[in-house]
Amino acid sequence: MPSDLKNYIRIFDTTLRDGEQSPGATLTSPEKLEIARALARLGVDVIEAGFPAASPDDLEAVRRIAIEVGCEPASNVKSPIICGLARAHKNDIDKAWEAVRPAQKPRIHTFLATSEIHMKHKLKLDREDVVDRVIEMVGYARSLCEDIEFSPEDAGRSDPAFLYVVLEEAIRAGATTLNIPDTVGYTTPDEFGALIAGIISNVPGIENVIVSTHCHDDLGLATADTLAGVMAGARQVEVTINGIGERAGNTSLEEIVMGLRTRRPLLGFDTGIDTTQLIRISRLVSTYTGILVPPNKAIVGANAFAHEAGIHQDGMLKNQNTYEIMRPESVGLTQSRLVIGKHSGRHAFKVHLRELGYDLNKDELDRAFKRFKNLADKKKTITDADLEALLTDELYQPRKIFSLDGLQVTCGTMGMPTATVRLIEEEGDVHTVAEVGTGPVDAVYKAIDAIANAPNMLLEFSVHAVTEGIDAQGEVTVRIQPVDGDTAVHAQRNGELPRTYGGYGADTDIIVASAKAYLAAINKLLIAGEGLEDVKHLTPLDAAVEG
Ligand code: KIV
Ligand code: ZN
Repeated sequence: MPSDLKNYIRIFDTTLRDGEQSPGATLTSPEKLEIARALARLGVDVIEAGFPAASPDDLEAVRRIAIEVGCEPASNVKSPIICGLARAHKNDIDKAWEAVRPAQKPRIHTFLATSEIHMKHKLKLDREDVVDRVIEMVGYARSLCEDIEFSPEDAGRSDPAFLYVVLEEAIRAGATTLNIPDTVGYTTPDEFGALIAGIISNVPGIENVIVSTHCHDDLGLATADTLAGVMAGARQVEVTINGIGERAGNTSLEEIVMGLRTRRPLLGFDTGIDTTQLIRISRLVSTYTGILVPPNKAIVGANAFAHEAGIHQDGMLKNQNTYEIMRPESVGLTQSRLVIGKHSGRHAFKVHLRELGYDLNKDELDRAFKRFKNLADKKKTITDADLEALLTDELYQPRKIFSLDGLQVTCGTMGMPTATVRLIEEEGDVHTVAEVGTGPVDAVYKAIDAIANAPNMLLEFSVHAVTEGIDAQGEVTVRIQPVDGDTAVHAQRNGELPRTYGGYGADTDIIVASAKAYLAAINKLLIAGEGLEDVKHLTPLDAAVEG
């Protein structure tokens, strides 16, 4: 490791790969691209953009990120390394290389399990076979790409002596980063720290590569394990926004970054992250994946900086340091109000969006500005949170197979809740349906179902106010699962649980926001159904079972 980087911790973000493996998280290609852009702005060193061998769509999404985020420094943003995951198979490695090669700094990340339980039951390979496969596949990957990461899957439960042999061979074959996963979130911080320390002292050639951590949160120890790994010598950490990921998730980026920053005097490490963007990217990922952030989540939860008890509030008024170890502004939590309002021009609006990190093209700006003017007519003060909700609702939506053209509801204590919904299909056909429901949202969803014909079960519905105040916009997030029809049948045929689809909508009228959110999820479901023949979704770990 170069000595000037001795205290620099590389942030390897795997929100788009391990994070997308979260139950229920399904991202469209434009959403992935948007998240990748936000990650680049945040300052991550590496973006693991996906698992290209999973499907042609996944490969294309990684390739687009390599081209659009990994090449062109978007308004002075330094291009991160763009990484693609591959099993230790030639075909996977070829696909990963095809996807990442347009990037200025491409990386292939290949993995093979090294624990007895995985080798025996999943891979049906003995130790010798595993070592041979690592030598062959890391060598093959290195013949294509200069930057190769190798992970011994389930390292946390592997025999350390065997791990040293595998890692030594991986270095000899050309690996430049060795990532040590606690795949099942089993280790304690002491054990994980000792594992990293053991690797650093026992693997010949380790001084020429970067050692990395990759921890899962099954026992709620991922952040502690990762910090223990860093203290023991790891200089890359694999993390996700909001800690999303397989099962209980991965180490959360914001916890590690703020932990290192807040305890800098004790720990002595730096990262390249602009922490003031943490809240914004957390919201973006939550909106797109449909995975809500619990209010008590460290750093980015709604209550992370809220002080409820009187004694705490009293202390805070006297001196913030009494109960606050980080400033809310340091993670981007501001209540900044727009200095522009109802009478402001397009230029001031554009400049303000740019300050917030949104660089819109002409068409996007026109649409956003029209929405802004509409909102300004209804709402006295417009905050940055309002603008973000508006932009997400207007611009970052899936392709509109159906769009909402009109909505009227009658509800209350007299009569039956009834909704009339008018949708326009992509080709221009207009459909109008009226339905009765148990409440206004139920009636609206029944009317949409009658038109869209995409049978599904509503798994989650949540609504919350974007800002305080009675005139606030409402944000609605929904998650649906196909229960019948092509998408569900296809998923089941491949032995998978049916995927779930999230949707987001924002409006000052929460029934309208609810309709938009539901339609966004339905559109995703229909888009996935269209690609039935050529899209097979495999998660890397499922795929590994196939050998
Ligand atoms: O958890 C894990 O082992 C992984 C590997 C593919 C790195 O995600
Ligand atoms: Zn993982």
